Amino acid sequence: MKTIDLRSDTVTKPTDSMIRAMAEAEVGDDVYREDPTVNRLEEIAAERLGKEAALFVTSGTQGNQVAVLTHCGNGDEVIVEADSHIFYYEGGAMAALAGVQTRTLAGVRGALRPEDVEKAIRQATNIHFPRTKLICMENTHNRAGGAVISPAQMKGVYDVAQKHGIPVHLDGARLFNAAVALGVDVRELSRYTTSVQVCLSKGLSAPVGSILAGDKAFIEEARWWRKKLGGGLRQAGYLAAPGIIALTEMTERLAEDHERAEQLAEGFRRLSLEVEPVETNIVLVKTDAIGQTAVDFLRLLAEQGVYATDFDEYVVRFTTHRHITEADVKHALDTVEALLHRVS
Ligand SMILES: Cc1ncc(COP(=O)(O)O)c(C=O)c1O
Repeated sequence: MKTIDLRSDTVTKPTDSMIRAMAEAEVGDDVYREDPTVNRLEEIAAERLGKEAALFVTSGTQGNQVAVLTHCGNGDEVIVEADSHIFYYEGGAMAALAGVQTRTLAGVRGALRPEDVEKAIRQATNIHFPRTKLICMENTHNRAGGAVISPAQMKGVYDVAQKHGIPVHLDGARLFNAAVALGVDVRELSRYTTSVQVCLSKGLSAPVGSILAGDKAFIEEARWWRKKLGGGLRQAGYLAAPGIIALTEMTERLAEDHERAEQLAEGFRRLSLEVEPVETNIVLVKTDAIGQTAVDFLRLLAEQGVYATDFDEYVVRFTTHRHITEADVKHALDTVEALLHRVS
């Protein structure tokens, strides 16, 4: 049976050129900063993101958590969007590792409103309050269905943060998807951040890793936290080599994933399914109208070789990526259509 894996863009495998680059990578001990390939990846990443320095980390979660640990101390407060990955999907790591408490604000399709952020910032004059030490944004926003946060929206929050002297961390796991969808250089988004995390191993197809970028002093401190978390790797150039290809050759093709997602969404709408607006490579479909929970619907789909992810009791997420062709989209839609006939 043909299988079509739309669970996540994390399932992408390295390209042939990535595998060759891994085999040929020049390596050294990166804890001693002697791995030339890691050093090159970090230089390229810093340049692409318009930051002074960058750090290769094992995962998006590690990049986000190293950022929180670097910006905050025990008992500080962090403003986050209520559905953000850093709050929702990282195992409570902010509380467990950094000992911070979170102030959650409901966003508009994932975007924090500057006026809400301004109101939520704690005034240091009141001894009862924790101190607001960080504001986090996410772009694209996963639980908002791959929604793009515009430069203007990011600037609004960044300006408030600047006014109060508070750093802004961006979970940019899919920041290149946002830049491609907007048709802007990624720096038009990263400029409104103090630190930014970008995943190499999602749509960009590298097998492992993320980048954390910021100014030199921040990255020095982040390097220390990464080591404490067990993220100091040795001959990591074998993993960094495909990351270089991810950043230099794989960003523009994300437009194809966005096209596939739009085709998928159009097909679902033709089948009278309720679909959230699609902006990048994520399609959220509601299953309540067809009397199926997400989990039940996914089980039936999986029996036919089509895989997706449950996002809420009645919401299924389909994610397009490099291995999903136009024919796969058609096959997935035919499978859903046949299934709808069965359950109606
Ligand atoms: C928005 C967002 N942030 C962070 C992460 C975490 O990345 P990782 O799985 O590499 O830890 C993900 C992973 O799906 C994500 O979607």
